[in-house]
Amino acid sequence: MTTISVSSPADFHVHLRQGALSALVTPHVRLGGSTLAYVMPNLKPPVTTTEHALAYKAELENLDPTVTYLMTLYLSPTLTPEEIRKAKNAGVIGVKSYPRGVTTNSDGGIESYEQYYPVFAAMEEVGMVLNLHGEVPSDAASNIHIINAEPSFLPHLRELHARFPKLRIVLEHATTRQAVEAVKALGPTVACTITPHHLALTIDDWAGQSWNFCKPVAKFPDDREALREVIREGHPRFFLGSDSAPHSPEAKSCSTPEHGCAAGIYTSPILLPLTAHLLESFGALHRLEGFVSEFGRNFYGVPITTTSSSEKVVLRRIDRVIAKDWTKGGASVTPFWAGKTLNWEIVQ
Ligand code: NCD
Ligand code: DOR
Ligand code: ZN
Ligand code: ZN
Repeated sequence: MTTISVSSPADFHVHLRQGALSALVTPHVRLGGSTLAYVMPNLKPPVTTTEHALAYKAELENLDPTVTYLMTLYLSPTLTPEEIRKAKNAGVIGVKSYPRGVTTNSDGGIESYEQYYPVFAAMEEVGMVLNLHGEVPSDAASNIHIINAEPSFLPHLRELHARFPKLRIVLEHATTRQAVEAVKALGPTVACTITPHHLALTIDDWAGQSWNFCKPVAKFPDDREALREVIREGHPRFFLGSDSAPHSPEAKSCSTPEHGCAAGIYTSPILLPLTAHLLESFGALHRLEGFVSEFGRNFYGVPITTTSSSEKVVLRRIDRVIAKDWTKGGASVTPFWAGKTLNWEIVQ
C-alpha cells in the first residue's frame, strides 16, 4: 500500500497555548493532518468561564479558520451548575479536571471530587463531557509517585462513573494496562484517549532525556503493549488525543538544581504521519481511520457529516526526516522524534 486516505482526522486532546507560542503552534494542527482540535484549558489564567472559552476560540479561529475547535473549561471551585448550562448553550463541549499540581499549570487543580458533584450532575443532565487527567498527586506517606499515579487514580474513575453513569467521561492520555482494562470494563459512557508518544516510549526513554518527558510519564513495556493491543483490536472507545504540549526549548532542556524541565511532548505538526508510522510498526495500520477519526467523533457526537471541515487527508509512503524545529515571532518548538525518519507524509 502506498497511499492511505483518512476522513477528517481529529485530535481529541491538544494544547494550543497563548500569545506568540499559540500563533506558532495553532496552524500546526492542520499541518499535521487534523481537521478538529479538542482544546485544553490550562492557560494562564485557566479557562474557567464560558466567556473566556469563546474569546479563546475566536483567537484560534483567527489563527486558522480551517480547523473546528471544540472548547473546554478548567474544573475549579468557581464553576457552577449555572455556568455549565451557559457553557452548554454556547457550544462548549467539556470540562477538564487536573489533580492539583501534577502537571503544567495545574496549581489550581482539584483535590477531591465531592465538592463538584452538583457540577457533574448538571453536566450529565445537559450532556457535557468530563475529561480527566487521571493521576493522583505524589504522596510519600501513601507510596504514591509518578509510576503508580495513574493506577492509583482509577478508583476515582470507577466511583465517578458509578455515581454519574450517564455522564460521558474520557480518561485522557492513558499509559497503563490497568487503565485500559478499567476503561474497557466501564461501558459505553466511558472512553479513553491515547497519545502517539505513549505508543512509542517507555520509562527508559525519558529517564535522563528531557524531550521525552511528559505527564503522565511513559511506563513499562507491558503497559505500552496494552495501549498497542487495544488499538490493534479496534476498540471503539479508545481514540487519538495527541496531548501535543509545546514548550520553549529553554523550558524543555534547561533544568537547574531548583527546577526540572517542563512536562510535554510536541507532536502537532507530524501527528497523522507519526500515528500511521506507529500503528504500522505494531500491525494496526488498518485501524488508522477508526482510531484517528471515527471512534472519537462517534463518542463525542461530532460525526464527519455535521462538521464544516469534512475532508479526506491522504498519506503517501515515503521516507521523511522530521524537522529539527519550527520558529515564528520569537517562539520556537522542537517536535517529538526530531531528526528521525517517518515512513509516511501528507500529500498536500
Ligand atoms: C507556557 C509555555 O508553554 O511555556 N505556556 C503558556 O503560558 N500558555 C507555560 C506552560 O503552559 O507551561
Ligand atoms: O506533559 C504534559 N504537558 N501533560 C499535561 O497534562 C499537560 C501538558 C502541558 O500543558 O504542558
Ligand atoms: Zn492531562
Ligand atoms: Zn494535556
